[in-house]
Formats: sequence, structure tokens, C-alpha cells
Amino acid sequence: MGKTSTSRSWTEGDLSVPDGVSAGGEGLLDRASPATFTKRMQIFIDTADIEEIRDAAAMGVIDGVTTNPSLVAKTGRPFKEVLVDICEVVDGPISAEVLATDYDGILKEARALAAMHENIVVKVPLIAEGLKAVRTLAGEGIRVNVTLCFSPTQGLLAAKAGATYVSPFVGRVDDISGNGMEIVQQLVTIYQNYGLETQVLAASIRHPLHVVQASLIGAHVATIPHKVIHQLLKHPLTDIGLERFLADAKKIPNG
Ligand code: E4P
Repeated sequence: MGKTSTSRSWTEGDLSVPDGVSAGGEGLLDRASPATFTKRMQIFIDTADIEEIRDAAAMGVIDGVTTNPSLVAKTGRPFKEVLVDICEVVDGPISAEVLATDYDGILKEARALAAMHENIVVKVPLIAEGLKAVRTLAGEGIRVNVTLCFSPTQGLLAAKAGATYVSPFVGRVDDISGNGMEIVQQLVTIYQNYGLETQVLAASIRHPLHVVQASLIGAHVATIPHKVIHQLLKHPLTDIGLERFLADAKKIPNG
């Protein structure tokens, strides 16, 4: 890069290994293996927009996806087409919601969704017919995310029925002056008290503080909108620091 350039990149000369220096990894600390950690918080992205999913997946920060009928409607695309695209991009749990509200109808839709791809987790509403379906589906080995949970008692019953995930909607409780995060806390405690294997999936996350609170509580999963994922990584001092480093780099002579 010439001296008149406004930005500076490292040249090949800057980056080649100096004579007499090993390029091997000697002396580096061993990285902690995944087995070192007993608990891993998972982050799902809460969207049906394939471009948002691609963006977050490329950063390596998402473990799965949650959708709901409203999010799919926003894309203006057919449900199946959206799901096929998502399954191609993300290799992790992908929640797809049933529309039926009766036991037989829920089972029919759930089985069809689960048959579409091994990563599909069926989302079933937290109603009596839904719990009956959860029981049957769990018996068939179909994973269910029980959605629209607004109380610890609802979440307890969903776990008893055999839900893989229960989704307490934090933001919607906050919207009506409740404390949505308290339900996440209560569910984590209840499931721990009795060794219930259902995972608490903090949903309806509206801002970074919700993510901090959910992780401090020990929620197994937080499903986060794309905009909030970007808010999580933004820091003004990072931007200022980077600007300064790049300005100073222009003063370094080429190697
Ligand atoms: C959960 O799975 C739902 O898709 C979602 O979190 C609902 O969030 P909202 O209350 O912002 O619509």
C-alpha cells in the first residue's frame, strides 16, 4: 500500500515469519476443551428472516433459531420455504410453531414438522390440549418447545408433560408492568429443585440487559432478536479504540 493511501494494511513483509523464529505453537497455553465446562448457555436467534440468520450464524454466535407465525408472516414468504432455508444455514434446534389448537390437530402438524428435518423442534402453545400433545410427542421422541409461558405454574406443568424447552415471554410480561425475568428465575429454580430436564428458554427478549439478567440467572437458552444481538457486541470504546489504532497504524513504516 502506497504512502498516500488513507488506510494502512499489513504488507507481506510485515507479516512473514522472521528468520530463526518458529512459527509453531510452542509455549502457547492449551485451550480449554469444551469438556472443561459443565454448563453452556445457548443463544438462539428469534427471527424468520434468513438474511438476519445468515449474519448471526457467520459470526458463530448462535446455536439455534426460534420462529413464530408473526415472524414468518413478516418475511412474506411461505412457511415451508422459510424453514428449508433456515435448516440449510443453522445446524441446531429450529423452533417451528403449530397453528392447530386441538390435540389431534397439534399432533398432525407436529409430526409433519418434525419429519421435515431432524433439527426441527415443534412449538406448541401452553394450553391444556397443547400439554396433552406434548405428552404424546415426547413419548415419540419429538422435541417440543412449549411457548406462550407467562407463569411458573404453567412452566412447571409443561416440564411435567415432557417439554424439551419452555419459553417464558419476558418482554411481554414487562409490557404490562410485571417482572418477566422473575419467571425465568422461578423456572430455573423449580427445574433445579426437582432435576427436571426441561430447558428454560428466555424469550421475548427486548434489550441487552435482558440477556445479562438471563445469563446471570442461568437460563439454559436466550432467544434474541437480530437487532439485540448487534446491540450486545457494540461498545463505543471499541469503536474509538479501533479508530485510534488504525490512525496510528498509518505512522508505522512498511516492513
Ligand atoms: C419466542 O419464541 C417468540 O418468538 C418471541 O420471543 C416473542 O417475542 P416478542 O414478545 O418480542 O414478540
